[in-house]
Order: sequence, then C-alpha cells, then structure tokens
Amino acid sequence: MKQTRNITVMLEREAIYRGPLVLVNKDHPVQVPLPIIQLAQVAPGIRLERQAALLYQAVMQATGAAAHIQPVSGYRSQDEQARLFTDALRAHGEAYTHTYVALPGCSEHQTGLALDVGEQGDDIDFITPRFPYHGVCQRFREVAVHHGFIQRYPAGKEWLTGIGHEPWHFRYVGFPHSLIISQLGFTLEVYVQWVKAFPLHRQPYQLVAGKRAFAVGYVPAQGHFTEIALPGAPYTVSGNNVDGFIVALWGGAA
Ligand code: DAL
Ligand code: ZN
Repeated sequence: MKQTRNITVMLEREAIYRGPLVLVNKDHPVQVPLPIIQLAQVAPGIRLERQAALLYQAVMQATGAAAHIQPVSGYRSQDEQARLFTDALRAHGEAYTHTYVALPGCSEHQTGLALDVGEQGDDIDFITPRFPYHGVCQRFREVAVHHGFIQRYPAGKEWLTGIGHEPWHFRYVGFPHSLIISQLGFTLEVYVQWVKAFPLHRQPYQLVAGKRAFAVGYVPAQGHFTEIALPGAPYTVSGNNVDGFIVALWGGAA
C-alpha cells in the first residue's frame, strides 16, 4: 500500500465505547447515550445513526426494494427497550423474550446501528418480522454486506450471540469489516476477538475487495489516551466496546 505523509490520531479512553464496531451484548452493555449518537430518520418513526442511515438508503436504492421491504425498528432508547422487554415477557413468556429481545441496556438497537426490516405485507410483526432467504429480501442481504451491514444473529451461532436466529436484524459495522465478517462466517463476538491477532502496526489483515486494497488491524487502548500513527491515507477507526480500537486503512487501487 502506498504510504504518504503520516498522521497521529489521539483517542481518549471513552472512544472505545463509540463507533460502528462496538460489540453490544449481555456481557457488553451500551456505554454511550444520546446526544453523542447522531440520528437520522429513514422512515416515519424509524431512526438510525446517521452513517448507518445513509448506507441503509443506499442499499434500498441499489436493491430497488422500496416497495417490498419496510424498516420495522431502528434506534431504541433504554426506556423503549425496557418496555419492549416487559411487553414481550407478558405476551410471549420468558423463553421467547430471552431468545428475541435483548436485555434493556444490552440491545444494539440502543446504539442506532441496528435495523430490523420486514417483507412488505399485512400484519408485520414488530419483534419477529418475516424476512426470507430468497427474492428481494435475499438481494437486500447480499447488497447490504457491500454497504457495511451484517446479519447479526445467524442460525447456528446462538451460543455465541446469546440471541436466536434473526433473519430480519441487520447491524451496521462499516466496510470492509462487513465483508470480512460475512466471508469468514463470523459473528461480531468472534470478529472482535479474531482481529486482535492482527496488530495494526505489526501484522494487519490485508484484504482486496474489487479494485481496492484494505488493511485492518487492532490497537489496544492505553491509559487515558491512545496514539495511533497512520499513513496519510483514508482510514476509519472504531472502539470495540471492550478494550481497544479497530482500524481500517483504505489503500489505493489493488
Ligand atoms: N432483537 C434484538 C436481539 C434486540 O432486542 O436488540
Ligand atoms: Zn433487531
């Protein structure tokens, strides 16, 4: 990868709780409340973190799915998640609720980075909307990966995610992370661990996607501030909500 002028970014410790790669589950609750999350509306009553919103709209446009797919749930406040959890317990019982509704404080919907989508139709279920693996829904799934989204709760990975199979729940993690996670069949839990084997400055993970080259690597948080020296190329950085940062360097043509 061609390197131009170097820059050093300085990240405060709290930055590990922010960014599109934050791992949120029952072991890692949401740490960043509004107003730090900047939201944008994607449909009446449905808001997403603004970058996720932009990319969601790009997926819908590329898929030509506006008449067939409907966003069902996006950002939820702590109170909304708590209400959903209580209502689900009352209506469906413990087993169902713990399978399909995250504990209040532990839902990635509270980050604005998660989106539930449903196939258009009568009686779309708010908790478990229909989103099949064929037709326009499958096309959405495939296009979404190239715009930074993953299907967050796949079948067979319930023991890793702690959540049941949810064909309708997409999570914005950013590109190229979405592609790596999807190609390697990871969950976000596994990716956040796996990437630690690729220290950014010693041995980053190299990836070519289409005509672009990427390098992805981990930087552990250090003290109050973490300094990361970067080549003067475009980059993204996100906290992992655990102990450090994941950086993606956007190289030139591969
Ligand atoms: N349905 C997902 C697990 C949530 O409630 O965040
Ligand atoms: Zn969801």
